[in-house]
Amino acid sequence: MTYVAAELSDKSKQEIDYWLKKFPETQRQSALLAALHIVQDENNGFLTEATMDSVAQYLGIPPIAVYEVASFYAMYDLKPTGRHKIYLCTNISCMLRGAYDILNHLETKLNIGVGQTTDDGKFTLKEFECLGACIGAPMMQLNKDYHENLTPERVDAILDKLN
Ligand code: FES
Repeated sequence: MTYVAAELSDKSKQEIDYWLKKFPETQRQSALLAALHIVQDENNGFLTEATMDSVAQYLGIPPIAVYEVASFYAMYDLKPTGRHKIYLCTNISCMLRGAYDILNHLETKLNIGVGQTTDDGKFTLKEFECLGACIGAPMMQLNKDYHENLTPERVDAILDKLN
């Protein structure tokens, strides 16, 4: 079967070009992380083989170089996710300040485990390593935003506002 990479949208190309300008012309691969975020956001939060191939084609790098990065970093998803992604940090500072209580609360509230998506497609729950906001432990990233000093009540207030 012949496989054809999906065409990147003009918007994605423009955004990737913004990042490409930050690197020498011979180092287009340096824009890979940003390009994957851009394409993932545009593709409802996950990457397909076709979208990864498009990124490879646009950057002029081998597809395997894209697959390696996309499958290594937990911030990229290779299968459909919920509309809202919860990245709960359970690393040392957050763990010591109750991250596992928050995790238990989230699992009970959403009726899913780590790595799963709610039946209504609203939330995907992910457990993450340190997100660099240890001073506000315990914390989570919800989509692109950080929420710190979490308590179960605060988690409820944050999530209950979302569509
Ligand atoms: S340990 Fe959770 S943000 Fe650093």
